[in-house]
Amino acid sequence: MDGPLRYSDAVLDHYRNPRNVGEIQGSAAVAQAGDPATGDVLKISLRIQNGVVEEARFKAFGCTAAIAAGSMATTLLLGRSVEEAARLTNLDVVRALGGLPDSKIECSVLAEQAIQAALRRHRETLEKERDEETARCRPSASP
Ligand code: FES
Repeated sequence: MDGPLRYSDAVLDHYRNPRNVGEIQGSAAVAQAGDPATGDVLKISLRIQNGVVEEARFKAFGCTAAIAAGSMATTLLLGRSVEEAARLTNLDVVRALGGLPDSKIECSVLAEQAIQAALRRHRETLEKERDEETARCRPSASP
């Protein structure tokens, strides 16, 4: 029989006092991971300026580990370049939390997936803006 889950002090701290909770209004770099049908969902929104994550917020419906992972992930994202943020994995989050019980490692994957999806949205938005700019600047065929 499994004993009670043992969480590190950092996990309990981030669960009890989650950092950067909420959503960034008007941000295009927003994404969620998980399955609403199972109740485990983590949403990340980012404000990225000049290629740097200036603000990161999260909302989570899930267990202690998922909430702590979302909170820690947002703190790790702050001040990182987009390239650095893209390299952040769930294991970085787990390490920063002082570890997670084996059965809860999967919950931290939600944070990584949401970050990657939010960064993808950011890239797509930049590409779209670039395409629109290029189309505007293209010389017209007609006089
Ligand atoms: S988010 Fe479902 S068990 Fe952790």
